[in-house]
Amino acid sequence: MRLAILLSGRGSNFQAIHEAVQRGALAAEIVCVISNRPGAPGIQRAREYGYDAHVIDHKAFPNRAAHEDEVLRVLGGARPDFIALAGYMRLLSASFVERFRHRILNIHPSLLPAFPGVDAQAQAVAYGVKVSGCTVHFVDEHLDAGPILVQRAVPVRDDDDAHTLAARILEQEHEAYVEALGKLATMQWKIEGRRVLFT
Ligand code: GRF
Repeated sequence: MRLAILLSGRGSNFQAIHEAVQRGALAAEIVCVISNRPGAPGIQRAREYGYDAHVIDHKAFPNRAAHEDEVLRVLGGARPDFIALAGYMRLLSASFVERFRHRILNIHPSLLPAFPGVDAQAQAVAYGVKVSGCTVHFVDEHLDAGPILVQRAVPVRDDDDAHTLAARILEQEHEAYVEALGKLATMQWKIEGRRVLFT
């Protein structure tokens, strides 16, 4: 499985995927890493590891389409089977998504469809849910909305704040992303309606 990773920040999910590949737990090759933020710690790490690492700063382009064209150009050279968004803080246009239908994955720090959008962990604490978690899903043209590959539940404790909950969810994110990619790499799958079925 040829895998491209798009990130904007810390890159701990990228790191978890990298480590899984290194220890032979994930049959994938990371063929390129792209960040829209020049200072992202994740892209610095990608460079250190020797990956084909690209900064494509959205601020350097006149509009979304021009930025995406450059991302597409780099992806075209890397020829990924799947694109993993790992803290990539840019919405993808419908035409971008269409081009890679059911080949773009995202991870979100809640049990979707609860708490889409930013600050999902703070939303969960504020709402008072007793269980939250994370979701790995295919990306469609709507925010945090595509068919679900893997979910992990995380109990919310009475003394949790957004920060402590986020830390426990993040541990599960790292396992969930590797699990989802591993399933795509090794199993047959199909989509029926919104359901991703592994066979
Ligand atoms: C994660 O919480 C992920 O669920 C969300 O953005 C965060 C990225 O963290 N989409 P990292 O950059 O992978 O450490």
